[in-house]
Amino acid sequence: MMLQGTVRPAICLFIVLTILACISTYYRMNISTKVIQFQCPVCPSVKAENATCVHTVKTVEVPKRCPGVPWFAQGKVWHYPPRFPLCTMDTCFNYSRCDNMSEPLVYTYDLPSPPLRYFSRINESKYWTDDPEKACLFFVFLDTQSQKPVRPYELPYWNGGLNHVLITFADEWADKNPPGDTIGNASIMGSIVYQTTSRPDFDISLPLQGKMHIPELQSVHPLQRKYFATFRGTRYLGENRGGVFRSWDSFREMHNGEDVVVATSCRQVTNDGLRKARPELGVNCDEDGEVHAKYNFRDLMNTTFGLAPAGRAPTSFRLIEVMSAGAIPVLINDNFVKPFDTLIRWHECLMIFPTSQMRRVIPALRAIRVEDLVKRQENCLRIYNEFLKDDDTLLETSMRALKERFMGVFPNFAQL
Ligand SMILES: *[C@@H]1O[C@H](CO)[C@@H](O)[C@H](O)[C@H]1NC(C)=O
Ligand SMILES: *[C@@H]1O[C@H](CO)[C@@H](O)[C@H](O)[C@H]1NC(C)=O
Ligand SMILES: *[C@@H]1O[C@H](CO)[C@@H](O)[C@H](O)[C@H]1NC(C)=O
Ligand SMILES: *[C@@H]1O[C@H](CO)[C@@H](O)[C@H](O)[C@H]1NC(C)=O
Ligand SMILES: *[C@@H]1O[C@H](CO)[C@@H](O)[C@H](O)[C@H]1NC(C)=O
Ligand SMILES: *[C@@H]1O[C@H](CO)[C@@H](O)[C@H](O)[C@H]1NC(C)=O
Repeated sequence: MMLQGTVRPAICLFIVLTILACISTYYRMNISTKVIQFQCPVCPSVKAENATCVHTVKTVEVPKRCPGVPWFAQGKVWHYPPRFPLCTMDTCFNYSRCDNMSEPLVYTYDLPSPPLRYFSRINESKYWTDDPEKACLFFVFLDTQSQKPVRPYELPYWNGGLNHVLITFADEWADKNPPGDTIGNASIMGSIVYQTTSRPDFDISLPLQGKMHIPELQSVHPLQRKYFATFRGTRYLGENRGGVFRSWDSFREMHNGEDVVVATSCRQVTNDGLRKARPELGVNCDEDGEVHAKYNFRDLMNTTFGLAPAGRAPTSFRLIEVMSAGAIPVLINDNFVKPFDTLIRWHECLMIFPTSQMRRVIPALRAIRVEDLVKRQENCLRIYNEFLKDDDTLLETSMRALKERFMGVFPNFAQL
């Protein structure tokens, strides 16, 4: 039918009203995500009969008056607006690619960078294939040294990101990685997976591998350790950077010079620059530096609890380091998805405090019963040995976390 004269404006008006109705329905549903995607036809190219809410056309910002408490906290470090496509295994995965395999076969790209950290020897594992035709999964390693922007969608077998896993250990997604809305069907596996932006059972949080393992301390009973709680590391200066809470009084004041040691140093490139520009930011840095110099990291690991405060990102090398020494990790961070959280029963091992609750840390730890300490130490060591203890184990755990997403679709993969 030809649209002419007065019919056309009437149809347009109808479509506009329908879109408005869609938007108001959405608000009434009380969903307070920051960005919502509408799937509505655009005027005037479609007939009125198709003017229902079904196809992605534009992104609409939810206004402040949106009812309900927003789960995205604006202005807080590590709380970003959601910006990855709304993917789940049922909408963004081609199961047929993994048919009839005894293990999920992985093809790895060497661009933008080759397999890194504990994935670097994946080519020697049973999961690897050099034939993209045979691959169930495609791994893309994003942490390139190159200055060029990363464009995974230019990869030869990208196919809209279907069955692709983007692996990153950057401090922030924005450091190197492609814009979140360009990753299509790909999932994210990385050390920067946040509660407010990750896609449950689709993205996977990875730990940073320990730089130092101290197994000789594992057998020391939690009550026969030299210290109660310890931390030694960098303090971060500034106002709204990740990790600045390490400069807050509530963090520094945990130190009592006896059984609780919090030894920080301000010596770090960015800090040095900040102190030159604004000397007042370096308050207490010199005293803290003296405390820092007095303690040795290895000696401090002979402790009941090992603090693992967030650094520039919520994740920390300390988690695995502390566990390697048989200490009980105490995480201090916000909005963090704990590594391999679909496999590891973390509540049986570690403690976790938001940065706003640091004054509670020491009193809360002192209130834990002895039997519970012993149990937690055992659980932490079991978790360390099964999931985290070295590079081969970390690679295996990463593959187990990927297999866990299939939830039984492939009987062979169910043997976690
Ligand atoms: C309306 O939608 C139906 C079913 O999706 C489709 O077959 C038809 O071609 C559409 N009409 C127009 C004008 O887009
Ligand atoms: C899914 O994988 C199968 C088997 O490799 C292939 O035949 C099919 O075209 C794929 N579908 C999509 C949408 O890529
Ligand atoms: C998997 O095996 C079944 C049964 O042997 C067969 O019908 C199917 O085509 C196979 N799928 C692929 C992708 O090879
Ligand atoms: C696997 O890759 C690493 C580099 O990532 C290389 O050093 C090693 O030789 C490769 N192993 C085999 C068997 O090709
Ligand atoms: C995922 O892939 C399907 C086709 O396989 C496509 O229809 C869909 O738009 C893709 N989703 C995203 C977020 O790119
Ligand atoms: C750990 O500390 C305790 C208590 O000070 C001490 O007796 C023990 O020898 C230390 N263990 C090691 C391996 O350093």
